[in-house]
Amino acid sequence: MPPGDASESAHTRQTTQVRGKQAFEAVEPTFDSPRISDGPAMWDIAANAGALDVNSRYAYLLWCRDFADTTVVARDADDRLAGFLTGYRRPQAPDTFFTWQVAVGDGHRRRGLARRMLDHVVGALRPQGVRFVEATVTPDNKASIRLFESFAEANDATMRVDVLFSERELGSGHEPELLHRIGPLD
Ligand SMILES: CC(C)(COP(=O)(O)OP(=O)(O)OC[C@H]1O[C@@H](n2cnc3c(N)ncnc32)[C@H](O)[C@@H]1OP(=O)(O)O)[C@@H](O)C(=O)NCCC(=O)NCCS
Repeated sequence: MPPGDASESAHTRQTTQVRGKQAFEAVEPTFDSPRISDGPAMWDIAANAGALDVNSRYAYLLWCRDFADTTVVARDADDRLAGFLTGYRRPQAPDTFFTWQVAVGDGHRRRGLARRMLDHVVGALRPQGVRFVEATVTPDNKASIRLFESFAEANDATMRVDVLFSERELGSGHEPELLHRIGPLD
C-alpha cells in the first residue's frame, strides 16, 4: 500500500480515551507498507498470536516482497512491529480485497489497531476500485468476527457469511473457515 498520509508519517503524542473509562498518554503507532526486513517480526507475531495458521518465514518474506502494496504494518514508538495485516486483490475479482491474515501483538490489543490497519489498507485501495472486503474467520474467533462486523457497520455495508473451506477440506481437526464478505462500499 502507498505510504500513509502526513498525519501518519510521524509518531504523535496525544491523549487517548479508552472505552470512555480512562484517559492516558499514548504514542500513536504509525502505519505503512512492510519492508522485506519486517518478515521475521511478522512471523513472530503470527507464531505468538495463538489463533493463526502460521506459515513459513519464507512465506512472510515473500509476501513483503510481492504484496507490500496490499499489506500494512503498524510500528510502535520504538519502531518495533505492533501488528500486521496481509491481503491481496483477488486476481479474478480485483474489486475485492481479501484479508489473508491480521494479527496484533499481545500488548497492543483492544486499542483499535486492527481496525485502523484495515481502514488504512482499504482506504488506500478504494480509489483503485476496491468495493468489497473479504476475510475468512473460524466460528470461535470472536475478536476477529467483531473486527469485521465493526468495519461493516462503520461503512454502513452489509456482511454476508458463508462457509468457504470446510473442516473436511482443511483437515487435522481445523474448524471451518467462514467467508465474511463486506460490501459494496460506497
Ligand atoms: C483479532 C485481532 C487482530 C484484533 O486486534 P485488535 O487490535 O485488538 O482489535 P481492535 O482493537 O481494532 O478491535 C476491533 C473490534 O473488535 C473488538 N474486539 C477486539 N478484541 C476482542 C475480543 N477479544 N473479544 C471481543 N471483541 C473484541 C473491539 O472491541 C472492536 O470492536 P468495536 O469497534 O465494536 O469496539 C487480535 O485479537 C489478534 O491478533 N488475534 C489473534 C490473531 C487472529 O485471530 N487473527 C484473526 C484471524 S486472521
